[in-house]
Amino acid sequence: MNQMEKIQALKKEKDAAILAHYYVPEEVQEAADYIGDSYYLARLAASLKEKTLVFCGVSFMGESAKALNPGKTVLMPDIGADCPMAHMAQPEKIKEIKETTEDVAVVCYVNSTAQLKACADVCVTSSNAVKIVKALPQKRICFIPDEHLGRHIAALLPEKEFIFNEGFCPVHASLASADVAKARDAHPGALVLAHPECKKEVLEMADFIGSTSEIISYASNSSCDEFIICTEEGVLYELKQKNPDKKFYTPSCPMCCADMKKNSLENIIRVLETGENEVVLSKELAEKSKKPLDAMLRLAQAKEGEKR
Ligand code: 13P
Ligand code: SF4
Repeated sequence: MNQMEKIQALKKEKDAAILAHYYVPEEVQEAADYIGDSYYLARLAASLKEKTLVFCGVSFMGESAKALNPGKTVLMPDIGADCPMAHMAQPEKIKEIKETTEDVAVVCYVNSTAQLKACADVCVTSSNAVKIVKALPQKRICFIPDEHLGRHIAALLPEKEFIFNEGFCPVHASLASADVAKARDAHPGALVLAHPECKKEVLEMADFIGSTSEIISYASNSSCDEFIICTEEGVLYELKQKNPDKKFYTPSCPMCCADMKKNSLENIIRVLETGENEVVLSKELAEKSKKPLDAMLRLAQAKEGEKR
């Protein structure tokens, strides 16, 4: 039996589904039952019937899946796969802002620990942040932990006053405008597609800014056939699968999330066989971090409903 066949058999035996983010290695994306961006995966985790979810991503994703599904077993192929940005805000500082600022909502990007989410009024992902922040009644928004995403949203919502936090994604923030300029000089006909975790100087050069799935659908629906992709290189797999005749380039600076790459077929098999690496949240933390996630799911849907 090869590794893929072994995974198929184990999934049946353990009543498990495999969820994967676009940044994990190609073979893991291939083995997954569901693949998507953070918003899709959070929504999906809340609706699956399988008893066990194997979450191929980083720990904040596994924690969100567990908080949304306290009755399910959530396994992480590598328990050390963590997102550095998820830790880049201090609960004490957020508490102080809440106590000293009038009419403020704490908005927490899902790329955050359960402890940080527990301090927030609502969570957002890169694909629903603008919709959700716009719908909030509060005038002031304390946005944690990503400063770049926060500033990007703030520029689109001038009616709100933002308090920023100095968090960043080391992968996206390492991309400089000079890297993008070099790629654009080499491929003058290509459109620049960027994730909002990139720095302002990069976003200013982008033809389109969006989450990983928004980048994939933009490229797939565009009449253009060349793109410079300014996000983690894992998205190239789905981009090429969906668009075999289009060309995708990356800036010279490598954009690779070492934590996402800790997911492998070997460790998926191991956790399915042994039940190792289960995500455990205390009842209190699960309940406190679920509230802002539920608020996100509700507001994102309510907004979609209004559009029709
Ligand atoms: P998406 O919400 O676009 O999937 O992004 C997740 C992420 O980790 C970006 O670095
Ligand atoms: Fe975190 Fe950045 Fe990796 Fe996304 S790409 S998981 S934000 S370190």
